Amino acid sequence: MKKKKPILGEAPKASRRSFIKHTFTGSTALALGYPTWQACSSERKDDRPGKKPLPASNGVVTRRDISQLEPNDPSLQALKDAVGVLRKRSDAMALAPDGWFAYATLHNMFCFTNSFKIQVHFTWLFFPWHRAYLYFLEKKLQAAIQEPSLALHYWDWTKYPRIPAAYWGKDNPLNDPTRLASEKDQVPDDYMNMVSHLRTPHFKGFGGFPKISPDRPYGEGAIEQSVHNSIHNWIGGNMDNFATASMDPIFYAHHGNIDRVWDSWLEADPSHQNPSDEEFLDYSFEFTDEWGHPVTIKVKDVLDTQKLGYQFESLDFTKTYEGAGGHPRPSNTLPCLVQEVEMNENERSAMATALKNGFRRVIIVMDRFKLPYIPICIRVFIALKNEQQSTPDTEGAEYVTTATILPVGMPDSSLIDKNIIMQAEVGPHLAALVACGLPLQATLEPVKVPGRELTAIPVEISNIRIQFDDEVG
Ligand code: C2O
Repeated sequence: MKKKKPILGEAPKASRRSFIKHTFTGSTALALGYPTWQACSSERKDDRPGKKPLPASNGVVTRRDISQLEPNDPSLQALKDAVGVLRKRSDAMALAPDGWFAYATLHNMFCFTNSFKIQVHFTWLFFPWHRAYLYFLEKKLQAAIQEPSLALHYWDWTKYPRIPAAYWGKDNPLNDPTRLASEKDQVPDDYMNMVSHLRTPHFKGFGGFPKISPDRPYGEGAIEQSVHNSIHNWIGGNMDNFATASMDPIFYAHHGNIDRVWDSWLEADPSHQNPSDEEFLDYSFEFTDEWGHPVTIKVKDVLDTQKLGYQFESLDFTKTYEGAGGHPRPSNTLPCLVQEVEMNENERSAMATALKNGFRRVIIVMDRFKLPYIPICIRVFIALKNEQQSTPDTEGAEYVTTATILPVGMPDSSLIDKNIIMQAEVGPHLAALVACGLPLQATLEPVKVPGRELTAIPVEISNIRIQFDDEVG
C-alpha cells in the first residue's frame, strides 16, 4: 500500500512514548495554557466571532517561483486576497493577533539579542526559525481565505534578478512603498554569488554556527551572510533592517527561496546533513498559529517540509553566479578598508599543508568594533601586503567573497556581536598566497549600487585572521 502522506494537523499517534515526549515538548507552553504545535490542528474551533476554522486539508501544497508565473495565475490572486485580509485586520486593530502587523512584529521580536531570549539570525537557528515563520504564515493565509490549497511562493532571484511583477502596483497588498529598488532595477551579480556556498561541506558553515553560550561569538552561515543579507539590502526600505523587513510581503518570497536553498543543499550531496546535536534538534521556538494563538515548535519538527504540508516545485539552481571570475580588482576610488591578516607560522603551515589535499573552506574572522546602522555589502580581497600601508593592492588581489552586513534595528547595534565571520572557499591563488610565507593583507571594499549613495565604509574592523571553517563551532 502506498505510504500515506502526513496530513497537516493530524494528531500524533498516542503511544505512551510520544505522549510523554509531546507533553514534555510543550511543558512551558502548556503551563501557560498555550497549545503546542501538535495541537495546532486545522480542526480546532475558532473562538473569535465571524471566523470559520480552516477546512481540513489532506495534501501537501507546492510552492512555486512567483517570478515565473503568468500574471493571471490563480495563485497570485489567492495570495493577494489573503495578505489583504491580514492587512485589513491590522488596519482595523493594530494589535489584532491574527493580523499582518502582529506577525511582522514577531520577526522583529526575535532579531534583538537583548530584548527576548533568542536572536534568530547569525546562528544555526537561522534556517529552521525562518522555515517555521513561513509555515505559520502559510497557515494564516490559508485560513484567511478558507483555502487549504493556498501555497506561499518563492522568488528565485538567480533566475529573475528583479522584484517580480506580482509585488508592484497601486492598491496591491503585496506592494511596499518603502523599497529602494524599483521595478526595473536588477540585482547585481555578486549579490547572488553562492556557487561556492552551495558546496559548503557541513551545516555549520552553510547554515550558521551554534551560539550555545553567551560568550560564544555569533557566526552567520554562508548563505545568510551572502545571498540572504544581500537581497534584503538590495531591496532596501523596510527590507534592509531586520526590525522592519517582514512588513514587506517580498520578505516571504525571498525567504521562500532561502528555505529552498536549504533543501537544495541537502539534496546536492549525501554528505550534506543537518546537525544531529540535541541543542539544535530540541530547540523550541514560539510562534502564533492561524488565529494568533501562541504555539511552540521545535527545530526537529521543521526539518521535513512534507510534514509541514509543503514542497518546492523545483530545487534546481541552474543559473547561479560565479562572482569571482567577473570581478575587477579593488577600485582605487572607493573608500576601502585595508588591514594586515594576522597569521602565525603554525597556522600558516597547517593551512598550506591542508590546502594541498584539496578544497577546504576558510573563514575570515574579524573583530568588529562598530556595526553600521546602514546596510553594507562588502567584497573581500586578499593580497600580499603592500608596502604602502593601507593602500589596496589592485594588481595581485584575490577576490574571495562578497558579504553583506545588515542592521538589526537599533542605532547601537554593537550590542549584537564582536565578531564578523566571512566565508570563502580557498582557490589555488589564495592557497599560494597563504603558502608563500609573506605577510598578507585583506581589503574590504564596499559595493557601489547604482543610484545609491556611499560615502565611507562604516565598519570598524581589526584583527583579521583566516581559519578553516570546520575548526570553529
Ligand atoms: Cu530574519 Cu531575512 O531575516
